[in-house]
Amino acid sequence: MSRTLSVLLGTAIAVSAVTAAQAQELNLYSSRHYDTDERLYSDFTDITGIAINRIEGNADELLARMEAEGENSPADVFLTVDTSRLQRAADMGVLQPVDSDVLAERIPSNLRDDDNLWFGFSQRARIIFYDTEAVETPPQTYLDLADPAYEGMICIRSSTNTYNQTLLASIIENHGEEVARDWATGIVANMARDPQGGDTDQLRGLASGECSIAVSNTYYFARAIRTEVEGLGEAERETIGWVFPDQGGNGAHVNLSGGGVAAHAPNREAAVAFLEYLASEQAQVYFSSGNDEYPVVEGVPLAESVTALGEWEADDVDLAAVAENIPLAQQIFNEVGWE
Ligand code: FE2
Repeated sequence: MSRTLSVLLGTAIAVSAVTAAQAQELNLYSSRHYDTDERLYSDFTDITGIAINRIEGNADELLARMEAEGENSPADVFLTVDTSRLQRAADMGVLQPVDSDVLAERIPSNLRDDDNLWFGFSQRARIIFYDTEAVETPPQTYLDLADPAYEGMICIRSSTNTYNQTLLASIIENHGEEVARDWATGIVANMARDPQGGDTDQLRGLASGECSIAVSNTYYFARAIRTEVEGLGEAERETIGWVFPDQGGNGAHVNLSGGGVAAHAPNREAAVAFLEYLASEQAQVYFSSGNDEYPVVEGVPLAESVTALGEWEADDVDLAAVAENIPLAQQIFNEVGWE
């Protein structure tokens, strides 16, 4: 057993051995945008004695920085949200392969890169929310959203948003380019307003009556169940229903938060230990209890706010293949005038 693994398994002796042996550190380039992640990082430091220096920014800036820094980059780990960015990092050559039995065993193969350049650590579904008082027959599939029956009803954010890019890329993968183009055209025709704001704003649009249907990642709604979110209190949520799309078909579209080890990581061993920690029971539980996401490791218990959304089937399409459709998705968004 490697020392890092025995640390993860929690033997106090192994922990003190690492702590005494060297004061290690880890430089984490992260674009995860959740305050609650603080606990995730401090727990890792408590267990391993490895201090984390966080360099936060948006994913594109961090990737550009890693590329510019080249071999001198202090980056050890790159963490981000959405498969498209993980794949972009891999394509740019700023990640290195990680051969880890722990990661290979714990993370399902469709949620990690074939060449072990990146690994998904948590997942979220992108689903349909609706006003139960205004919509009698809610859409049951992503393709349904483009049905003219829902003209003028849908709130969905901008096409510059990676969540939508990956969703369209998955529709390309599952249904082909022509269906995907027609779908995007139909969504633009069905928009209640020009795209604006983040996913929470689409949900607020339901509460305010501006939209009857909204597309959002699950954790934004679950967060409003767990804690106070302005405009999405209990009274506002009472008339909001939701549909996990494509049940009985492809399953609901999932996007990942994940990461990989930087190509020139100065602290490579600590970087691998950190990724293995993110796949540990403790961290996996925290992705759900701290940020209302779904763990990637089988059998890890969900937070109450997440359980409240009910059971559902995920689309198990290969997300690395989906990520390759992103440039085409962007082209389609431009063609159909999805702002
Ligand atoms: Fe988000």
